[in-house]
Amino acid sequence: MEMKEKVASKFEELFGAGAIMYASPGRINLIGEHTDYNGGFVFPGAVDKGIVAAIRPNGTDKVRAFAIDLDQSAEFGLNEEDKPAQSWAHYIFGVCREMQKRGVKVKGFDTAFSGDVPLGAGMSSSAALESTYAFALNELFDGNIDKFELARVGQSTEHNYCGVNCGIMDQFASVFGKKGCLMRLDCRSMEFEYFPFDPKGYKLVLLDSVVKHELVGSPYNDRRASCERVAKMLGQEFLRGATMEQLDAVKDKISDEDYRRARYVIGEERRVLDVCDALQKGDYETVGKRMYETHWGMSKDYEVSCIELDFLATVAEECGVSGSRIMGGGFGGCTINLVKEELYDNFIATAKAKFAEKFGHEPKVYQVVISDGSRRLE
Ligand code: GLA
Repeated sequence: MEMKEKVASKFEELFGAGAIMYASPGRINLIGEHTDYNGGFVFPGAVDKGIVAAIRPNGTDKVRAFAIDLDQSAEFGLNEEDKPAQSWAHYIFGVCREMQKRGVKVKGFDTAFSGDVPLGAGMSSSAALESTYAFALNELFDGNIDKFELARVGQSTEHNYCGVNCGIMDQFASVFGKKGCLMRLDCRSMEFEYFPFDPKGYKLVLLDSVVKHELVGSPYNDRRASCERVAKMLGQEFLRGATMEQLDAVKDKISDEDYRRARYVIGEERRVLDVCDALQKGDYETVGKRMYETHWGMSKDYEVSCIELDFLATVAEECGVSGSRIMGGGFGGCTINLVKEELYDNFIATAKAKFAEKFGHEPKVYQVVISDGSRRLE
């Protein structure tokens, strides 16, 4: 059964007829990792995997929510002290609260949802969930909030109700996604451009290590704090725009760890711009080279990789894959790989076999289909 039908029929079974259906996708990111909260560039696109929700206002001041994949329900009010116990419900509760803070008169509703974004793969299942509800509540309760602000609702939900001080990339990509297009977003000015992405002769494929990351709390927030300390030392709001010369000038005043974090971010900013140039020329080999550089920067300087992902990037290189790197926040999840069509079958077979031999299970393989963002389903 298609996800939409599954969600609709579960909703009907639990709450009756009359639901409206909404969906939002997860995302990939070609390059520009851990740059968003540094005011830099990112290069994401929405994917064909996401969250589908059925929603109907219920005329009360309570939300009754059902997570189909977990077979769990939650019921909560809409005041700050009503935060539910279930962690999945924090996302929905947080979105309700953040919409209210922006003046939307959110009332009670019934809802059921399901998703097919692999959890912990670095494809932003949580942003898909937030965007789905932000988009839906905006329509159902006449919110009149623009799409950027809907993305910020999701981001504030992460900050204020889920403990992750994330940037704006994931929620932006989920809300603004467009079929066949990547988006280059300047996270300082919030200007963005759609880039049709159809690399002739290449495939874009994700290999999921199935190692789960835990962004909540420390490791992600620590990286961000390092960047903010260095930016402050340089007298800037963001690391964006800082040069290696400037960084080297304060090297003695900051920890070695902060130095390496900042070095990665400064390099990554350059790489995103290089990739944009290369894409305009159809030069996918340069795109791929920069992806490898990002991988090893994230691994050695930013220290958000793990042995499984380093292994996958190494196998990719051995197989002649043009580009491969860890994708998303890190600490597990996927590599994103740009591979020539003629090398594809061998790469997948080799990566599966070698990975299984070393880690006892195969990586999962996801073909990337770049798709539309948040929407109401008819
Ligand atoms: C997570 C965050 C994003 C971004 C990426 C790393 O996905 O939610 O804001 O910082 O990590 O690029």
